[in-house]
Amino acid sequence: AAQLNELTKKAGKLYFGTATDNGELSNTTYRKILDDTNEFGQLTPANGMKWEYVEPELGVFNFSDGSVVANLATKNRQILRCHNLVWHSQLADWVTADTWNKENLTAALIQHVTREASHWAGQCYAWDVVNEALNDDGTFRNDTFYNVLGQEYIKIAFEAAAAADPWAKLYYNDYNIEYAGPKSIAAQNNIVKYLKKSGVRIDGVGLQSHFIVGETPSQDDQVANMEAFTNLGVDVAITELDIRLDLPANQSNLAQQSLDYQATVGACLQVKGCVGITVWDFYDPFSWVPGVFTGQGAADLWFGNFTRHPAYYGVIDVLKKA
Ligand code: G3I
Repeated sequence: AAQLNELTKKAGKLYFGTATDNGELSNTTYRKILDDTNEFGQLTPANGMKWEYVEPELGVFNFSDGSVVANLATKNRQILRCHNLVWHSQLADWVTADTWNKENLTAALIQHVTREASHWAGQCYAWDVVNEALNDDGTFRNDTFYNVLGQEYIKIAFEAAAAADPWAKLYYNDYNIEYAGPKSIAAQNNIVKYLKKSGVRIDGVGLQSHFIVGETPSQDDQVANMEAFTNLGVDVAITELDIRLDLPANQSNLAQQSLDYQATVGACLQVKGCVGITVWDFYDPFSWVPGVFTGQGAADLWFGNFTRHPAYYGVIDVLKKA
């Protein structure tokens, strides 16, 4: 039967991919699906490239966790999205604990981005350079970087990434920017336009797309929002798609979930500058959702027993029609 990545490529996109994590790779049934490039043409490491693993102490770098998924992607000839260089969460303790001034934090930030991006240079199709810098009201999140450096930290991070890895597409990645509103406007104005005005390279915006069944923005709204970004001269990608429901899953919430997946995949297919779709893992037992949202789950495309959700077949249908 026709599969996700195969059909996505036929529809003119670069990939249909998934996030995965080191501990998941020993599950042989999971692994067979993950390694099947007709199903998944792209991988994102869900954790291994994050700051706390890569630079646990100032100037001490460890690339072993992040290399596991990176090397698997190379071996399988899957596109690699690298995630992420700068984020307020899963930061090493020393970054949040230290008292910084502009000078020494700038140096630490440049060193982190430079060492990490050069390590995987040439292997990453794209880098999520800065992740989740904005609050829902569009203001900048008050994390260590913003507190000490102001908006300029965005520029510093993208400049260092561009210098360290000229091959990777450089992305800003966030959630709740998949539809019109203050956060999407801020991403357009204060990230994309700001960098372009400053002469700093940004190639894309990642729309995470962690949605809730029945509350997903309409396909038209998602298309309009994607075009607001692509009109600024950047690509967009669906980077972390999952659509959670109130457990237990039943016929009706799974039917709605299928429609909701179709809206997001359909929107990407409609927009020329949308390069690909990544789900934030494909197997419910490996989803981050139940651990964070009590009573919610079944957000992925495969159930615990490895049968597929109705949404899987819904996505296949949309891809076939493209
Ligand atoms: O590494 C430790 C391990 O040493 C320890 O024994 C274990 C015990 O809990 O925890 C391990 O860390 C966990 C880590 O995943 C690696 O498995 C953290 O507790 C856990 O919080 C962490 O969750 C990740 C989450 O980001 C953290 O914010 C999820 O796996 C990951 O899927 C999720 O991904 C994020 C994206 O990066 C950004 N967008 C939102 C998305 C979902 O939250």
